[in-house]
Amino acid sequence: MLSLLLLPLMLALRATAQMEVEVPSLPQVALHGRDAVLNCSFSHVSPFNLSHLSVFWQLTDTKRSVHSYWGGRDQLTDQADRFANRTRLFPDRLALGNASLLLKEVVVADEGSYTCFVRVQDYGSAALLLQVAAPYSKPVVTLEPESNLRPGDEVALTCTAYGGFPEAGVVWQDGAGRNLTENITTSVVANEEGLFTMTSVLTVELEPNSTYSCLLINPLLGEEGNAFVTITGQNITFPPVALWVTVGLAVCLLLLLVALAAVCRRKIKESCEEARREAEEAKELEKDDSKTERPTNVWRL
Ligand SMILES: *[C@@H]1O[C@H](CO)[C@@H](O)[C@H](O)[C@H]1NC(C)=O
Ligand SMILES: *[C@@H]1O[C@H](CO)[C@@H](O)[C@H](O)[C@H]1NC(C)=O
Ligand SMILES: *[C@@H]1O[C@H](CO)[C@@H](O)[C@H](O)[C@H]1NC(C)=O
Ligand SMILES: *[C@@H]1O[C@H](CO)[C@@H](O)[C@H](O)[C@H]1NC(C)=O
Ligand SMILES: *[C@@H]1O[C@H](CO)[C@@H](O)[C@H](O)[C@H]1NC(C)=O
Ligand SMILES: *[C@@H]1O[C@H](CO)[C@@H](O)[C@H](O)[C@H]1NC(C)=O
Ligand SMILES: *[C@@H]1O[C@H](CO)[C@@H](O)[C@H](O)[C@H]1NC(C)=O
Repeated sequence: MLSLLLLPLMLALRATAQMEVEVPSLPQVALHGRDAVLNCSFSHVSPFNLSHLSVFWQLTDTKRSVHSYWGGRDQLTDQADRFANRTRLFPDRLALGNASLLLKEVVVADEGSYTCFVRVQDYGSAALLLQVAAPYSKPVVTLEPESNLRPGDEVALTCTAYGGFPEAGVVWQDGAGRNLTENITTSVVANEEGLFTMTSVLTVELEPNSTYSCLLINPLLGEEGNAFVTITGQNITFPPVALWVTVGLAVCLLLLLVALAAVCRRKIKESCEEARREAEEAKELEKDDSKTERPTNVWRL
């Protein structure tokens, strides 16, 4: 709050005494999850007493405090909550005119304009733009439907990549590198961290021997990766060789089993008849000497 009160005062001073404050003029790109240093340097003619230095880092749009320093130490009571424990200056560099801010573990929400105010006796400020980038996962292309494809069928090729920022451009190409622009639907969904999942669907009529590739272009990180599918004529019209081999083996196995079963059946039949014959013989023997023990050797015949 104090900084809010001090600012108009400082702005009033600006007309009379101007200090040169420098920040990068190009937007600064920080990687999601990494630490970033927001550069800010100021010119000072002669050595100064640190307790006469004030540094205010603020969000340019809302004037919320990101980090404040005066009276020779950090003043963080009015710091916006989301920057708590995530910021620091470089105290040993302050005297050298370096008021840069370390911002830890950058998140998508940190994107925006930051103003660096510096005052010793003179006063000056400058704003820099922070952009957040996150690389996408390697894209994956899937085919729908997956099987029983025939030339002329309409198929949907889906290219998916996740965890990136900002929104990426998706370019579909055929095998000859031609840009496919028709029948593409691209959608973007953000997760709770603000990172995107990109899904691009290309609908094509199948031709034998066609290749389709999906290329992802992150506006901040450039070309990120691609994925492609090749649909060969074999895939479409015939089952692949491996399938024929499998089918052939299966048929052989089946024939073998049938043959085996026939042999077994005959064997079983034979042994059944034998058993019956033996049983009859045994009965006859029993008839002969009914109360006596059955001779075991009969079973051994
Ligand atoms: C910050 O300043 C240092 C020293 O001048 C320089 O090496 C570095 O590239 C700067 N970083 C950015 C993001 O401008
Ligand atoms: C300020 O100091 C920090 C820490 O040494 C360094 O990373 C940064 O590049 C410096 N910035 C400038 C503008 O010199
Ligand atoms: C810096 O200023 C403070 C208060 O104005 C004073 O107490 C201190 O002695 C000064 N330090 C130096 C090194 O001049
Ligand atoms: C910041 O650090 C202090 C002390 O380590 C801790 O008590 C506090 O909860 C932390 N705040 C946040 C927002 O992480
Ligand atoms: C592909 O076509 C789109 C739309 O026509 C165009 O914006 C893009 O620059 C083209 N990309 C390439 C690599 O030719
Ligand atoms: C786009 O899709 C429509 C209907 O799904 C189809 O008639 C047309 O041929 C497709 N265009 C291309 C270039 O594949
Ligand atoms: C498909 O490609 C293979 C090898 O690349 C080739 O031998 C075959 O002739 C092609 N078939 C068609 C229909 O283009």
